Amino acid sequence: MTRPNDLEPGDDEARALTRRRFLQGAGEVAAGGVLAGGLVGRSTAHAAGAAAGFEDVETLSGEVDIELMVNGAKQKVHVEPRTTLLNALRNHCSPTLTGTKLVCDRGNCGACTVLVDGSQRYACLQLAVDLRGKEIRTVEGLATGEELSPLQDEFCKHDALMCGFCTPGFLMSITAALEKNPSADLAEIKSACAGNVCRCGTYPHIFEAALAAGLRTKGR
Ligand code: FES
Ligand code: FES
Repeated sequence: MTRPNDLEPGDDEARALTRRRFLQGAGEVAAGGVLAGGLVGRSTAHAAGAAAGFEDVETLSGEVDIELMVNGAKQKVHVEPRTTLLNALRNHCSPTLTGTKLVCDRGNCGACTVLVDGSQRYACLQLAVDLRGKEIRTVEGLATGEELSPLQDEFCKHDALMCGFCTPGFLMSITAALEKNPSADLAEIKSACAGNVCRCGTYPHIFEAALAAGLRTKGR
């Protein structure tokens, strides 16, 4: 089962565990920080910095300069170690990359799905500092100039979106699946989308678009 951050559908316990792990990674001392009032931000920054391998973690104060590789381009961003990839993309990149959507911000909906080294990841559960040296792809990287990717084109042709909030996440999940296997069948496509939720209920159209895009990709 392919699912961002290795969650199984309906696995609330695993989801909660992953959320806890994230919170631990972002700031193991945060709970203590809450009790200690103003220490939350500082403790969070230190723990996240340690996770990212900053040597100067003990003196880290608030914000750091990091370089991310997004859609093949270097992005220099100035972020707190606790900044999520989603926040970095939407608010710190230049130009800002707002195609990746913020909906639940807690690993439940898949609207923020991006590819990290070719694999699906929830950007709201990834720390930007942890992704230095990784290849990040967002929905903005799918088209070539004005030419939509085959999958994007098939989404249009199959009327596979309504409000569109889930669309970038589905596009990235299916792109990952088709890049691994252009002959992916319906079951594989559904599996790839197990971590993506469409509240408008466009699933049948999404899956039709995915299969059509697979055929086009195979025929190239
Ligand atoms: S915004 Fe990240 S999973 Fe919903
Ligand atoms: S098109 Fe609205 S949530 Fe999917």
